[in-house]
Amino acid sequence: WIHLDEVASTNDYLKQGDFADGTAVIADRQTAGKGRQGKSWSEAPVGQAMYLSVLFHSMKISDMGLLPLLCGLATARSLGAAARIKWPNDVLLGEKKVCGILTEASFDLESGLVDSIVLGIGFNAYLPREGFPPGIAHTAGAIFEAAQPDGKNRLAAAFLNHFWDAYSQGTPSDFAARYRRRNLAIGREVQVLSPMGAKTAFALDVDDDCHLLVRYQDGSTAQLASGEISLQL
Ligand code: BTN
Repeated sequence: WIHLDEVASTNDYLKQGDFADGTAVIADRQTAGKGRQGKSWSEAPVGQAMYLSVLFHSMKISDMGLLPLLCGLATARSLGAAARIKWPNDVLLGEKKVCGILTEASFDLESGLVDSIVLGIGFNAYLPREGFPPGIAHTAGAIFEAAQPDGKNRLAAAFLNHFWDAYSQGTPSDFAARYRRRNLAIGREVQVLSPMGAKTAFALDVDDDCHLLVRYQDGSTAQLASGEISLQL
C-alpha cells in the first residue's frame, strides 16, 4: 500500500493517478474527504482517523454489485466479533458508526466493463479528546478509546487481509450468509430514508443478493437494492 500523511481525498488520489489494479492508499489526514450524499468526511482531529481506499480496474459491471458490501463485511471483520453492519455498509460498534464507506465507479457501457472502481473507507480509529462534533456526536463512535501503538497499521492490515480473503474465496451465498449474520437492522423498526423523506418500516431480512427486505406500516413490502436506513437507538 501507499502511505500518505495528508491528501485531499484518498478516493480522488486513486481516481486521478495511474495505479495498478489492487493498489491501496492509506492517509492520516484528508483535507477534502468525501462522504455519501455529497457530505464531507475530513473534519476529524489530526491523527484520530484513518482513510483508506482500494482501486480496481476492468471488472464486469455484473461482478461489481456486491463489492461495496464485501468491503463493509471485511471492515466489520477487521474490527472483531462485536462489529455490526447497518445496511448497506456502515460499520458500527455498540450501535455507533465507526466506519463509513464510499464507492465510486466509472463505467464503459459499450464494453460492459467498469473502467475503475474505488472503495474508500473512513475509520474513526481513536476517540477525539474533545469528543465528536455536535452534529454527529449521538451517532458516531470510535474503534479505540485512545491511541494504540501501531493501531492504524494493524487495522489496515486486518482490513486488507479480510478483504482479499473474502474477494478470492467462497461463493456469493456464503458471502450473503456472513453479511446477514453481521446485520443490525433485521427484526427491528427502521426509517427508510430517501430524498422524499423518511418512511417507517420493519426490516424483515437480507436476501442472498444482500437486498434489504422491509415491510412498511401499510403492509406493503419492498426489496431495497440501495439506499439508506436509520435505526431507532
Ligand atoms: C459515509 O458517508 O458514510 C462514507 C464516508 C467515506 C469516507 C472515506 S474516507 C476514505 C475515502 N476517501 C474519501 O474521500 N472518502 C472515503
